[in-house]
Amino acid sequence: MLHLIWKSSIALLVLFSAIEIPLRIVLGYQASSFLIFLEWCMAGAYVLDMCADFYYAHIEYGKVEVDHRQARKHYLNRGFAVDFVAAVPLSLIFADRLSLLTIALLRLIQLVKLVRLFQFVHKVQEKINSPVLRLSTFFFWIGISAHWVACIWIYLRGVDPSISLSVNYVKGLYWSVTTLATVGYGDITPNTPSQMIFAVGVMFLGVGMYGYIIGNIANVIANIDAAKSKHLEKMEEINNFIRYRDIPATLQQKIRSYYHYIWESRHGFNETSVVDELPMGLRVQVAMHLNRNILEKVSIFQGASERMLEELVVNLKAVVAPPKDPIFRCGEIGDKMYFISSGQVAIVSEDEKTTYATMVEGQFFGESALLFSQPRNATARAVSFCDLYTLDKETFDRVINKYPDFAQRIHFLVAERQKKAS
Ligand code: CMP
Repeated sequence: MLHLIWKSSIALLVLFSAIEIPLRIVLGYQASSFLIFLEWCMAGAYVLDMCADFYYAHIEYGKVEVDHRQARKHYLNRGFAVDFVAAVPLSLIFADRLSLLTIALLRLIQLVKLVRLFQFVHKVQEKINSPVLRLSTFFFWIGISAHWVACIWIYLRGVDPSISLSVNYVKGLYWSVTTLATVGYGDITPNTPSQMIFAVGVMFLGVGMYGYIIGNIANVIANIDAAKSKHLEKMEEINNFIRYRDIPATLQQKIRSYYHYIWESRHGFNETSVVDELPMGLRVQVAMHLNRNILEKVSIFQGASERMLEELVVNLKAVVAPPKDPIFRCGEIGDKMYFISSGQVAIVSEDEKTTYATMVEGQFFGESALLFSQPRNATARAVSFCDLYTLDKETFDRVINKYPDFAQRIHFLVAERQKKAS
């Protein structure tokens, strides 16, 4: 957090320089003593930033750090020169001895630190990958470019002494924005060849920027809520399918409410497919995080070893059962057991006239068939929308054999259930 605040402050200082330095050069105003004080502070901050970057040098691949010495060497070879040039305030030290043009050039050279601003914005964008932020950054760069173009235009035209410096700047900015936006009212026109050449360049830049903006805005708006658009697209597909195959109204309702539930409960994300793409070590960590909830809810998992939980957790698959749907029927061959994350499941007899139990959040069912290699001894039917996790027989058998404590607890609970039922 401290690092972020520090880097944001440095980025703000760089931004201030990027705006103020070209302005002072072209308008030629005298820096106030406060401005000079600020410049010394900036130089100090840049030196500190350089030392901190060297001392805490690290190269991040994701969040994994590589060797410290190697990272410092990398910093000295790459970023150090930029930071050093920006940090040494030659223009302040030799302020009385150098010509105005040399000082202006030295100040402009110090703007190499802008590279750091680019890097900072890029890093923030990577971390908060939001389309709105992308769009804002884009407008931010357009604003800065318009300012620079205005400054160059004022330099080429010369400052008009009959109007104030601020009006000079406003006129420059007006020309820059109208030309960049390809509006070009023609009320301020280039007079000299250098102004004309510059105007042609800015017009080219404006046309390119215009095309880029249109393309980007369309893209960003389409992605603002990509998940929602995907969901709406899916619903459209379902509606077309329902119409095409003439599905009965009650079934239509069931299909729609299933997709509605999936959207409401998990924003259309299929956890399993996302997690399955990760490498094994990462998959275990992510699965532990995602399924912590279910591990805490299910009583038989409490007190189990971390190793066993890790083995279980990567093999849990999330499924949804719509209300009134059979999860399995009595007599079927069982290939998995179920843990309830939310919702209610009724365990009923084969003819569904007797309800043996109503299972709720944190309970499990479907273990007998796996434990005793026998067909299901009851039917399980969802009472409401249920979020379930399934565990396949292969993993169940492996865990039972490897962890006798866990096997004992399952056996005990099954015996309890049987005792209650008889
Ligand atoms: P299984 O035989 O695999 O499939 C049906 C499941 O219903 C069974 O495992 C138990 O998990 C559960 N079950 C059966 N009878 C009862 C009962 N009387 N009380 C609670 N759960 C039961």
